[in-house]
Amino acid sequence: LRLGVLASGRGTNLQAILDACVNREVPARVVLVISDKPQAQALERARAAGVLAEYHDPRIHPGRASYDRHLADRLEEAGVELVCLAGFMRILGSAFVERFRHRILNIHPSLLPAFPGKDAQRQALEHGVKVSGCTVHLVDEGVDTGPIVLQAAVPVLEGDTEESLAERILQHEHRLYVEAIRLYAAGRLQLEGRRVRIVPGGA
Ligand code: GRF
Repeated sequence: LRLGVLASGRGTNLQAILDACVNREVPARVVLVISDKPQAQALERARAAGVLAEYHDPRIHPGRASYDRHLADRLEEAGVELVCLAGFMRILGSAFVERFRHRILNIHPSLLPAFPGKDAQRQALEHGVKVSGCTVHLVDEGVDTGPIVLQAAVPVLEGDTEESLAERILQHEHRLYVEAIRLYAAGRLQLEGRRVRIVPGGA
């Protein structure tokens, strides 16, 4: 399975995906990493793994749809079959989503539909929830609204800061994202309406 990863920052989820591919935990290969930020550590991680890594500047495009089309073109040219958003800090519109319908995954640091959008961990702390977590979902035109693939619950502890909670959740993100890609690659994700059914695997 040919993966394309979009990332804006640190890229620890990208790293988990790269490692899982190298270790053959998933029958997949990252063929292209794209960032909208030239300094993204994700680009360095990709290059260190020998993966094609490209910065594409959104500001040279007249609008979001134009940038979206440009990214979709690049991913298609590279033969990408599944797009993984890993800390990509831009909203992809229909110009992108239509081209990769049901072939885009995202990871979000909360138990969706709670706390979508930015600062999910801060929202969780402000709300005083005792359990948060992370969600891998298929991307649709909304912000963090697509069909849920996998979730992991993570406790919120007394005295947690945004950073300590984010760090605890992150450990689960890495494992969860790889698991979701594994299921996708095995053809075990079946969409029924807006629900994702996980088809039982063989022995
Ligand atoms: C993660 O918390 C992810 O859930 C969110 O952005 C963060 C990206 O972290 N969408 P990293 O760049 O993968 O380290």
